[in-house]
Amino acid sequence: MSIIDTIRNLARAKDAIILAHNYQPPEIQDVADFVGDSLELARIASRHAAQMIVLCGVHFMAESAAILAPHKKVILPVLDAGCPMADMAHPDEVCELKRKHPDAMVITYINSTAAVKAVSDVCCTSSNAVRIVKAVPSQKVIFVPDKNLGKWVARHVEKEILLWEGFCPTHQLFTKSELLNAKRKHPDAVVMVHPECDPEVIDLADEILSTSGMVNFVKRTSAKKIIVGTEKEIIHRLKREAPHVEYILPSDKLVCPNMKKITLEKLFRALSDEEPAIAVEEQIRQQAFRCLEKMLELSN
Ligand code: 13P
Ligand code: SF4
Repeated sequence: MSIIDTIRNLARAKDAIILAHNYQPPEIQDVADFVGDSLELARIASRHAAQMIVLCGVHFMAESAAILAPHKKVILPVLDAGCPMADMAHPDEVCELKRKHPDAMVITYINSTAAVKAVSDVCCTSSNAVRIVKAVPSQKVIFVPDKNLGKWVARHVEKEILLWEGFCPTHQLFTKSELLNAKRKHPDAVVMVHPECDPEVIDLADEILSTSGMVNFVKRTSAKKIIVGTEKEIIHRLKREAPHVEYILPSDKLVCPNMKKITLEKLFRALSDEEPAIAVEEQIRQQAFRCLEKMLELSN
């Protein structure tokens, strides 16, 4: 039996669901029950009936599943698959900023630790950030931790946005000149980029989309060629959804090393051993749960 069949059979026998982020390696996307963006993975984790969730992504994604589904076992096949951006915000510093701006609400990107979510008012993802910032009653918002997503949101709302100095190293390395080069080589291509990109890059794009926003876009567009400004592995997902389109990766730096740590062998081992399991200390979990639940409520 192939390792793929072995994983599928084992998942069925254990009443486990395998969730994979759009940046996971192709073979992990292919073995998963569901592939999606951060919002979709959080939604499934909170609603699915399976007893075990195997989260193929990075630590904050597994932590979010553990916060939303406390009675389920949540497995992250490689414990040190982290997100450097999530580690750029610390709860004490967020609380200090809150004290300085008591009239502001804290809206925290899902790419953050449970401890930071616990001191925040509402969570958001790249697909609902604008909607969430518009929906909160406060005119002043502390946006944590992604400064680029925060700047993108600020372009769409008439509110005061206080930015945190965090960023995604993978998207930050992708430069304006690389995108200009790709556009020169492919003048007929549509450009879509993730809002974690630098504003200089965003200014040159036709579409600014979350990863699942990109998936939905390629399903409905008549474009024949698309320059894809986000982590390279999404192209596997895009080819699955719209194989007739030609996809161009404009930079060889668009690789998230943490998203590449999970292999089929490590997934099989984690599913067999039911570890590493991710758990969140109960008081923090309850506070972080409110922050995530508010997001799910506002984004429905
Ligand atoms: P999405 O929610 O758009 O999938 O983004 C997650 C992420 O980590 C992007 O770098
Ligand atoms: Fe974090 Fe960037 Fe990797 Fe997304 S792509 S998980 S934001 S480091």
